[in-house]
Order: sequence, then C-alpha cells, then structure tokens
Amino acid sequence: MFLKTHSLPLLITLISLPFPSCFGSYRLSEDPFHIDFRQAHAYRRPTTYHPYSRTFGVSNQRNYHNPNPANLFNYNNEIWSRLDRARAPVAPKIVNVDDFGAKANGRDDSQAFKTAWKYACSSSQGAILVVPKNKIYHLKPIDFSGPCKSALVMKIYGTIKATVNHSDYKKDGRRWLYFENVQNLKVEGGGIINGNGRTWWQKSCKINKALPCKEAPTAVTFYKCSNLRVAGLRIKNAQQMHLIFQKCVNVKAFNLFVIAPGNSPNTDGIHVTETQNINIKNCVIRTGDDCISIVSGSKNVRATGITCGPGHGISIGSLGARNSAAHVSNVIVNRATLSGTTNGVRIKTWQGGSGYAKNIKFQNIVMHNVSNPIIIDQNYCDQQKPCSKQVSAVQVSDVLYQNIRGTSASNVAVKFDCSQSFPCRGIFLQDVALRPQEEDIAEASCANVKLSYRGNVSPPCSS
Ligand SMILES: *[C@@H]1O[C@H](CO)[C@@H](O)[C@H](O)[C@H]1NC(C)=O
Ligand SMILES: *[C@@H]1O[C@H](CO)[C@@H](O)[C@H](O)[C@H]1NC(C)=O
Repeated sequence: MFLKTHSLPLLITLISLPFPSCFGSYRLSEDPFHIDFRQAHAYRRPTTYHPYSRTFGVSNQRNYHNPNPANLFNYNNEIWSRLDRARAPVAPKIVNVDDFGAKANGRDDSQAFKTAWKYACSSSQGAILVVPKNKIYHLKPIDFSGPCKSALVMKIYGTIKATVNHSDYKKDGRRWLYFENVQNLKVEGGGIINGNGRTWWQKSCKINKALPCKEAPTAVTFYKCSNLRVAGLRIKNAQQMHLIFQKCVNVKAFNLFVIAPGNSPNTDGIHVTETQNINIKNCVIRTGDDCISIVSGSKNVRATGITCGPGHGISIGSLGARNSAAHVSNVIVNRATLSGTTNGVRIKTWQGGSGYAKNIKFQNIVMHNVSNPIIIDQNYCDQQKPCSKQVSAVQVSDVLYQNIRGTSASNVAVKFDCSQSFPCRGIFLQDVALRPQEEDIAEASCANVKLSYRGNVSPPCSS
C-alpha cells in the first residue's frame, strides 16, 4: 500500500511529460497544404484527478506508523507538494550560452555554443538555449546536431556574427550554422544572424570575372529536420544563401527579415530543397538573388505574405541542370508584393533535364516595376559558356496565375519560353493586369505553351 501511494505521483509525472509522438501527429486534411503544428511544449495535464476524491488518504492514515495528527498533516502536505510538482508542467531547462563561457567580446565564442548545444540537446526535460540580447557573439562554422532527447527552443535575442577568416571554413566550405537531424526544434527570439558576407562577395566570380567560381557558405542550413519552426529573426548579409531547408519535413518559417545588398551575388533568401510540407509566412526578403527558390524534391510548399525586392523574385528552379531529373509539385504562392526585382514569379528549367514541375498556384500578387513579372523559362542557362540545344526537358504543367497586377519594367510582362518537345501544359491565367512602368507597351511572349484564360488578362499572348 505504501508503495502504491509513492508510485502514484511517479505515474502522474510520466503522464504529464511531453510526449514526443504527439509532435509526429502531423496529418494532411483535404487541403494538401494544411499543416497541423503542435506546440513543442504541449503536455497533458491529468485534469480529473483530485487527491481528496480518492481514498488513499484514508488508507495512508491506517498504515502510518505514528498516527499523530500533526504528522499526518505533514505527510499529507508532502503528498500535496509532490502532487503539485507532478501536475505542474515539466519546466524546460534554461541553457544560457554565457554560462558556458560565451563572452561576446569580439573573440570566437564557438566552443561555448557547442558545449551549450550539447548540454541542451541531451536534456530529457526539454531545453531553451538562450543567446542573450544586446550582445554580439562571433562564431566559426558550427554543427548543431541531433537527434536531441526532447524538444528544443533556441532563443536568439542578441546577434550572432560569422567569422570572416575564410580558412575557418576549410572543413566544409558550404556551411556556417548547420542544424542537422533535429526534431521538434524552434529557433526564434527576434535577434540577428549576420553572415558577414562582404569578403565572400568580393571573391565571387560574378563580381570579379577573373576569379574562379566557387561556393561560399550558406548562413543557416536546416538539414533533415522535422517539426521545425524558424520565426522572428533577422538574417542578413549571408556569405552566399541565407537560409536553406534541405530534406526537412513539416516546417514553419515566419516573420523573418532576410536582408543583403541587391548586388550581393547568389544571396538567395530562403532556399527550399527536397523538403515537404513547408509553410513560409510573413517574410520580408531583400537580397541579391531569389527571394525564395524552390528546387527539386520539394512538395507541399506554401509561401504567403511575402515582400520581395530587391532580388530575383520568387522562383521554382532552377531544375534539371546537368541533365538531372527534378520533381516539384503542390506549390502555392499567395499574397506577395515584388518591387524592383528582375523576375516576379518564375519557373526556370535547364535544357536536357527530366521530371516535372506541376500543380503550382501564383495568387494575389502585386508587382512594382518588375522586369519579368510572369515567366516560365525552359531555356535557363546560368553558366559562362552557352548551353547547347537539347531535346528533353522538365515538364511544366498545371500552373495557375490568378489576380496578378502591377507594373513591368520591361516590354515583356509575360513570357512563356517553353520546350518545343515538352510544351508547357495547363497554364491558366485569370485576372492578370500588368502594365508598363514607363511609357512603351507591355506585351506577352509565348512559345510552346497550352494556355487558357478567365476574366481579364492583359497582356494576352498574341497568337
Ligand atoms: C584564420 O584561421 C586559421 C585557422 O582556422 C588560423 O590559423 C589563422 O591564424 C586565422 N587568421 C587570422 C587572421 O585570425
Ligand atoms: C524600374 O526599373 C528599371 C530597371 O530595373 C530602373 O532602371 C528604373 O529606374 C525603375 N523605375 C522606377 C520608377 O523605379
């Protein structure tokens, strides 16, 4: 009996622990983009249990060796407090990088971050990794690797700045902050992640044509992460791309400011590759390359409330480079404003590729002085020597452009430059109103495309 009363609080503790399988309960409703994202610290409270409603207090009394009323009271008190502890949420461990030796004094803080991450990641009660505000921490490339024992929150209140010593990146020249194989992770806090990219931009072959073309590090990479939330951060001046989601599942990325100069080379804002079920929402992206790029292996991608520009616009692709097979499907871009970008909404594929880009919706989009507001380019070629003509192509089909309006910086507001052997199919234009920014005219240039129209579409394809 005594054992029983002792094991009861333990039982309740077990019930109230965060239950990892809860986070895995992602389900698709009829809406293929619906994401059911649970709170990482959801726990179940035993609501019906009340100690007075049970009889064990009475049997305690009977089994208690010293039935002194004072002792009885104390004993019950102890049960009470134990029950309270058991019923309270299990507080996640607070792990402050300063407690692990981070100094934010201009010197390298990498070791402190590594140790703090290890400690947080091995906590079985959940952890909040804190990067304090009003401080600037300098980091070399770091792997934040999982799996972790329980849900983790990284609260970046302050600034994290990248080392500019290029030899620090020797081990893998393509990464700086690298989150790998972490489940149930939130990265948030309102702070700044600064890739300090200027020295990399200067070394780019796109800036200095005499230099060889080399990869530069991505500022923040999430690789094989699931149930991930990245929110409320400023990511700026990346060495190359700002934020990559690769092989991730169930991602929410929202309230992000991604900012770099318009002439910084290859500084894509958010790059989505081989990732499924991702919701990008309310982001402001001003960089030197695509604001959002979505490439092969990505499915169920939704981007809502995006402010883009300067930059190269919102792109699906490039796909099919070096005769590769590419598969992208179920993409919705809804409510975007693009200003002064070289493209608006773009699908770009190389000649010689295979596979598909299909089921794509571009809806409710405003263009301000965008050079190619609507473009499908199946002759994409981003290399120094010209691309040779090839027969095969990534099939582009079922693309909706709905309520797209604003101004074009070039004469060609709508361009469908599709493959002769694999024409674009199921291209649907509804309520498109694009007019020239300056005088002149705005026209549509259309090759190898099967189109349908609804509502007013201007400019229409002429043939
Ligand atoms: C750059 O980093 C390398 C190795 O990571 C180191 O040996 C070198 O002293 C550093 N240079 C400077 C200027 O800090
Ligand atoms: C529109 O864009 C063109 C080309 O990018 C640029 O030269 C021009 O100054 C822009 N006009 C306005 C009004 O922003």
